[in-house]
Amino acid sequence: MVRRKPLVIVTRKLPETIETRMMELFDSRLNESDVPLTKAELIEAVKTAEVLVPTLTDRIDSSVLAHANPNLRLIANYGTGIDHIDVEAAYARGITVTNTPGVLTEDTADMTMALILAVSRRLAEGERIARSGQWSGWSPTSMLGHRITGKRLGILGMGRIGSAVARRARGFGLSIHYHNRRRVPEALENELEATYWESLDQMLARMDVISVNCPHTPATFHLLSARRLKLLRPEAIVVNTSRGEVIDEAALTRMLRNDEIAGAGLDVFEHEPAINPKLRELDNVVLLPHMSSATIEGRLDMGEKVVINIKTFVDGHRPPDRVLPSHL
Ligand code: DGY
Repeated sequence: MVRRKPLVIVTRKLPETIETRMMELFDSRLNESDVPLTKAELIEAVKTAEVLVPTLTDRIDSSVLAHANPNLRLIANYGTGIDHIDVEAAYARGITVTNTPGVLTEDTADMTMALILAVSRRLAEGERIARSGQWSGWSPTSMLGHRITGKRLGILGMGRIGSAVARRARGFGLSIHYHNRRRVPEALENELEATYWESLDQMLARMDVISVNCPHTPATFHLLSARRLKLLRPEAIVVNTSRGEVIDEAALTRMLRNDEIAGAGLDVFEHEPAINPKLRELDNVVLLPHMSSATIEGRLDMGEKVVINIKTFVDGHRPPDRVLPSHL
């Protein structure tokens, strides 16, 4: 049974007000330096903590969890994605896992739209030219991108974020198509005027823009495989604000280099923080350092959720954002 003031170990630096709240409510050990924990340090943390607050930079697999002390009852993840946690192994040891869904939806959808526009309208290239001092002035034929109005957007994963992307994209005049594990309720389909594609392959072959908005699970690893990427039209662009692992990054890079697809906007990468050097050389990609949810408001909301999850759990209730292995 967790004590009233549990020992909470937080693996990364969090917004100050959240850390203050954590210190007030719990016996909290913070990470002032913000340097990610090594595996040995993570093992030490699970040996000591009653509640662990990790982030996506901590790989909490079964080899780490094997060292967990019996008093570790809760892993309250600071973030929505939980692909860095072996949830099944945690539950097998009686450890509850929570995350922070919902509060990142709008920010992530905003960034998805920003990337669709940035790639289609060559924002990053234009910015580099403007800064370079080499700009020779306006010309009727320079820096031509592509109009997004009237184009077809294929959303891969029509959950909260996918739907928020669809709402925004409709405002920009894109038609909405989606592939999802399950067809969404008719009312939502009608609201978004969204066309469901049971076959991902068929959807890929017909879209102008593909937006990856599904979580990374064993079932979605390399969902956009080399074979599937080949189905895309040469004019298509791919945007990913979910997890790098959903796309075969090496295959995507090859296709971009060979102009087999028109461009990509990537906020996430398969081997973060490493980014394929060949990807970094390309002009037809916009690369961001995993910052889709990086707003001050969002980070505070995430912290609030973590605090509520811990407090509810410690008070003996079911925390609101429990992640169950069956959800994966
Ligand atoms: C999440 O919460 O999983 C996001 O990727 C963090 O940016």
